[in-house]
Amino acid sequence: MAFSSFKFSFYLFLVFLLGIASAQLSTNFYSTSCPRAISTIKSAVNSAVAKEARMGASLLRLHFHDCFVQGCDASVLLDDTSGFTGEKTAFPNANSLRGFDVIDTIKSQVESLCPGVVSCSDIIAVAARDSVVALGGPSWPVQLGRRDSTTASLSSANSDLPGPGSDLSALITAFSNKGFTANEMVALSGSHTIGQARCTNFRTRIYNEANINSTYATSLQANCPNSGGDDNLAPLDTTTPKFFDNAYFKNLLSQKGLLHSDQQLFNGGSTDSQVTTYSNNLVSFKTDFANAMVKMSNLSPLTGTSGQIRTNCRKVN
Ligand code: HEM
Ligand SMILES: *[C@@H]1O[C@H](CO)[C@@H](O)[C@H](O)[C@H]1NC(C)=O
Repeated sequence: MAFSSFKFSFYLFLVFLLGIASAQLSTNFYSTSCPRAISTIKSAVNSAVAKEARMGASLLRLHFHDCFVQGCDASVLLDDTSGFTGEKTAFPNANSLRGFDVIDTIKSQVESLCPGVVSCSDIIAVAARDSVVALGGPSWPVQLGRRDSTTASLSSANSDLPGPGSDLSALITAFSNKGFTANEMVALSGSHTIGQARCTNFRTRIYNEANINSTYATSLQANCPNSGGDDNLAPLDTTTPKFFDNAYFKNLLSQKGLLHSDQQLFNGGSTDSQVTTYSNNLVSFKTDFANAMVKMSNLSPLTGTSGQIRTNCRKVN
């Protein structure tokens, strides 16, 4: 009796261990199944960023837009077809998200090394980390073993990704909905120390807002007219847009946030002191950013037998 109950508990323990193994990601997930996957992704990212620094920013943003919409499951990569609606036409994504070709290139390289093994969602997560490193930012351990979705959600992409017109309270809420503190939201917003935005997303700010440096506003107006030029670009960090540093926060102190949502982080509210700290302390920004990225890249992954390993990142197998 005692022995069989021991056996039963041991059986439960094994089931429990299996449950953990299938629900959790690990940094060495591909170490035997595809040992060259991680270095292959890194080389491809390095050459894409060497060709165009902005691609590093675009790949980082792709990971954010993947993870905030039904978790980090590569749902963002699925193309629309006659019978399938993906996320690419959502307001935050349309005519804006970039880097799909780089992901395709990486996927085909990794497929020829180890067919059917490495997920598209893991490729995005590693590419985002390698992009930040390539631009001089911090590194972080990327947990692996995510699987790819067979679904996407246009409506969640429209509702869950914060827009550039958001006030501080809306930003805090959007991140809190995904389990992030306001501090983590501020750290993650430091991503805007790299990359570019379109005129349509900052026009209202540079013509109508009061909390913007007037010299800066005037200089932006030259390439972002009152009407037309919607797709004209300006750097999110006016000083060092190709370098992952804390200049984004320094800019906010002199009212040089490009988006309304950027300047909200330093506008007399609860996040001002953290912006000041990051503007003075590069190490604390990098540390907090890396920790928040680890958390972001763990948002509801598909593991075990859910989802699939897509052969082509743009479509369900
Ligand atoms: C806090 C709320 C956020 C808002 C409202 C926001 C909004 C935006 C907008 C409107 C753009 C420009 C898009 C365009 O004009 O086509 C942009 C670019 C970008 N965002 Fe955010 N974002 C936020 C947070 C984040 C986070 C958390 C990350 C990454 C972890 C991120 C990474 C980027 C990057 C790297 C770019 C430049 C992309 C490129 O040059 O291709 N953003 N964001
Ligand atoms: C606005 O920007 C100019 C030029 O960069 C700078 O000299 C000035 O100090 C800024 N003004 C404020 C209020 O921060």
